[in-house]
This record gives sequence, structure tokens and C-alpha cells, in this order.
Amino acid sequence: MSLQDKIRQLTELRSQARLGGGEKRIAKQHQQGKLTARERIDMLLDDGSFEEYDMFVTHRCQDFGLENKKFLGDGVVTGRGTIDGRVVYVFSQDFTVLGGSLSEAFAMKICKVMDQAMKMGAPLIGLNDSGGARIQEGVNSLAGYAEIFYRNIQASGVIPQISAIFGPCAGGAVYSPALTDIIIMSEQTSYMFVTGPKVTKTVTGEDITIENLGGADIHTRKSGVAHFKAKDEEEGILLIRKVLEYLPQNNLEEPITTECDDPIERIVDELNDIIPDDPNKPYDVKDIIHHIVDYEEFLELQRLYAKNIVTGFAKFGGMPCGIVANQPNYLAGVLDIDASRKAARFVRLCDAFNVPILTLVDVPGFLPGSFQEYGGIIIHGAKLLYAYGEATVPKITVTLRKAYGGAHDVMGSKQLRADLNYAWPGAEIAVMGAKGAIEVLEGKKLSSIEDPEERAAAQLKMEEEYLDKFANPYAAARYGYIDDVIEPRNTRWRVARALRSLSTKKEVGPPKKHGNPPM
Ligand code: HXC
Repeated sequence: MSLQDKIRQLTELRSQARLGGGEKRIAKQHQQGKLTARERIDMLLDDGSFEEYDMFVTHRCQDFGLENKKFLGDGVVTGRGTIDGRVVYVFSQDFTVLGGSLSEAFAMKICKVMDQAMKMGAPLIGLNDSGGARIQEGVNSLAGYAEIFYRNIQASGVIPQISAIFGPCAGGAVYSPALTDIIIMSEQTSYMFVTGPKVTKTVTGEDITIENLGGADIHTRKSGVAHFKAKDEEEGILLIRKVLEYLPQNNLEEPITTECDDPIERIVDELNDIIPDDPNKPYDVKDIIHHIVDYEEFLELQRLYAKNIVTGFAKFGGMPCGIVANQPNYLAGVLDIDASRKAARFVRLCDAFNVPILTLVDVPGFLPGSFQEYGGIIIHGAKLLYAYGEATVPKITVTLRKAYGGAHDVMGSKQLRADLNYAWPGAEIAVMGAKGAIEVLEGKKLSSIEDPEERAAAQLKMEEEYLDKFANPYAAARYGYIDDVIEPRNTRWRVARALRSLSTKKEVGPPKKHGNPPM
């Protein structure tokens, strides 16, 4: 064969590999409203930046007739490319080849890009669309999964890992995405579960559809497994690119500060009137967030889950920042199990990747009741406490209104080593609300007053005295627990200036193998 023939052969092999499972299966993939593995990569990466690895890899299975059924690339497209000019490593499972099922060779291809991503200190993106372990390969497939899991664990906190689920993701296969930082699911076409509807029915008798068991809606609303529900794959891919804007390449780098025309010294007069006078009246904390961040842009994570706490990324003067905020509009912004878990994971994500944290506090306390206690609110609440105390990134806290009890301590208090604690003038920082406090302290005295009107008047007076004394920011400011009481309209520039001044912060915790957080 001449070199020219050999070049022709190479071109043919490449075309063959690019066809994956063939035209028919590609058409079926499209009919189901799904893109192919390669179309997804093209959409994700900067034009022309993709360099593919291992196009000629095939499986080594000699059983169940697979010895005669080989596909170049073996069901996963892997390689390197750029997003906004920054290097990323990517794998994209190809459902058109044996249902995207994972063979040993398939797993080794993924492991190769994971190893390179770690060595090069670049993010890893996984696009999942697979029938799970390739049944014909038995334990080799299970071993392949475990190799991937191990690498996910080693990479955790070193490089950002982002998973998109664009098709099935079932059985043990769910645990690779679960070990990554961000999970995005496409509406209608994706599902994740450890055991599917059929096994569920056999084992427990429960009759349930795929969507209700593990669809995007369930995992973004109920389980909190996924961070984003995308209306389609295109939106899912845009979200991957967006998330990366706020994260550095790896844990040794800082997130990138971008140009910003939105003046940091912008005064926002509306903020002076944004909180209702009645302390029991709700308001939307996202309005405050939008007012203070650059260009009103806030990328909210887990928007539909534990809505009593808001988490997400924004920028101040072009500097990325994570925001955690109690949401008075939902369950009065109370801290419960789900909210604690959600915020704790977010705080750890920010800390791992050097993203400063802004905490906006308006919290009446922890949610009481047997449901919460039996569910382990003690441990889950402790997760958030642990995450704040452990975080060494710049931490700025602004108490907007209520900060009562243990919840005050948890939400980025000075004693958990926040660097700067501000409060708005209407802040109420105390052990508990006036009503509860007076019942505990003066209950006996009050019940000894026989006349109901007289009793009510006495109670009101006591409550007012309590509010005057404790329900303000100055009690805490007198001790230096609050560094400054600020006018709401000045919040943007105060936070932006604080972030700049804290950008040189260096804090290192005590040496240890690792902590033992309440998991
Ligand atoms: C081998 C598989 C496969 C698998 C699908 N295929 N899953 N081949 N191993 N796990 C093949 C099918 O035989 C079929 O081949 C082709 O892929 C397309 O599959 P269809 O069934 O035609 O597609 P669809 O109707 O869309 O159904 C998709 C599906 C279904 C729901 C994912 O294929 C399915 O239930 N697959 C099995 C899922 C499963 O139980 N996986 C194991 C999970 S346990 P042909 O040639 O006929 O078209 C697991 C353990 C991991 O993954 C443990 C890690 C620790």
C-alpha cells in the first residue's frame, strides 16, 4: 500500500469512527430529541478547538457475539478542547453504540482524559447518555466504573468537574456524576436512578414512571441531586460554559476577574426601602442580590430545591463571588435539613476553588419539630456550620434583618471567622425573637396577672423593651461582632470594596489528614 493509500485509509477510518453506531441510530437519537455525542462536543467547545483521543479504540469482549460487533471509539468520544480559550477535558457518551454502555475499553478512555485533566490542572466535563455497565463485559465493566469513581474522588477539590445528563444514567453509573461538583439534567430526555421502575416494582411493589422516579424535575425539586434543569441540551451546554466563568482552572488558581463597566461605587437607593417595616412580612432576597451584583446577573444553583436558602454565583467589579442568602419569601427563610445541606455543599464548592463567599442573612432560626429532629437536623445543620468554619476564602456577611439563635452563628458569623461582618440598621441579632424570649423570662410573672387586658399590656411593654435592647445591630456592634452598620443603598460598593481588599487573604488551617465533617 502506498502512503497515499494509507492516508486514504486513515480518512476512511476517521469517517467510520465519526459515524458511531451508524446513520440509522443517529436518526433515532435525533427523533428522540437528543443530539449525538459529537454534536454535543461541537456545541460545547470553541470552534475548531477539539482534539480527539482514542478514536481507534475498540472493546476486547469475546462473548455474546460482541467479538463480531466492534465500533471504532467504542461508544465514547473523548479529548481536549477550549471554552472561552481555556483548556478543558471532555468525554461524551455515544448512545448510538451499544446504548452508550460502558466497557472496559470505554472506561479506560474516560480515565485517560481524567488523568490528563488532573496533570494539566484543567476542568473535566462529562456528557452522560448511557445504558450503564455493558452487560456482556461483566465484572470488567464494574471495574471500569470503579476506576472512574476513584479518579472522580481524587479530582474532587482539585479541578472543577461538571456532569451533564442528556439521556439514561442508571444503576451504579449515577455515582460518577454524583461525585462531581455540578450536575445538569435535560428536561424530558434524561433520568438518573440507582434502580429503575421495573426493579422498584418487583422489590417494593411501587408503581412509578421513569420521569417520577428520576427525571430532571424530581432531581432539581425533590432530591436536590441536580443543580440545573435545562429545557434542552443546548441550554444545558450553555450552562456548563456559564458555570466555568466563575471557577478557576484548578484549586491552585484564582477565578478570573473580567472587565466590568458596571461601576462598583453604584449607589442603589431602592435598597433603603426594600425591607418591609413589619418584621414578619416576606420579601424576595433575590431582588436585593440583583440590585447589588454586576449587571444584575446571578447564576442560581439548585433554584428549585430548598427554596428557603438561595445559592449561586455573581460578580462584583468583575470578581466572581459565591452568594448564600436566606430567602424570607419561602418558609420565612428558616434553616432546615435541605437548606443546610444545600448551602453547606455550596460553601465547600466555593472554598475548594478560591471563590469568595458573600452571605446575606435574614433567618428566624432552625425549623422546629419531630420531622426535622428525626431527620437529623442536628447533623445536617452542623454541616453548614462546619463548612463556614472550615472555609478559608474571603468571607463577607451582611445581616439584612433577622439573625436569631444558632442560625445567627451558623450563617457566616464573626466567630466562624468571617472577615467582614456588616449589618443593615434594621438588623435584629439576638438569641431569640421577642415573644419567645418574654415567655421564657417573664412567663411566671405574666401569668400571675389575673386581668387579661392588664396581662397583654404588660407583655407588650416587655416585648418592646426587649426589642429596644436586643433587636438591633448595635448590641453585636458594641462587641465588634459586627464591623460596621451600613446603609442598605451602600451595600454594593461596600461589598465590592471589601472583596478587593480581601483578595490577598491567606489563611491556612491546622495540618491534618482531613477533617471529619458531619456527613
Ligand atoms: C449492553 C446495552 C445496554 C447495556 C443498552 N444496550 N444498554 N448493551 N449493555 N447495559 C443496547 C441494547 O441492547 C440495544 O442494542 C441498544 O443498546 C439500544 O438500547 P435500546 O434498549 O434499544 O434503547 P432504548 O429503548 O432507548 O432503552 C434504553 C435503556 C435500555 C432504557 C437504557 O437499553 C436499558 O434498560 N438498558 C439496560 C440498562 C441497565 O440495566 N443497565 C445496567 C445498569 S447496572 P441493539 O443492538 O439491540 O439495538 C449498572 C451497574 C453499574 O450500570 C455499576 C457501577 C458500580
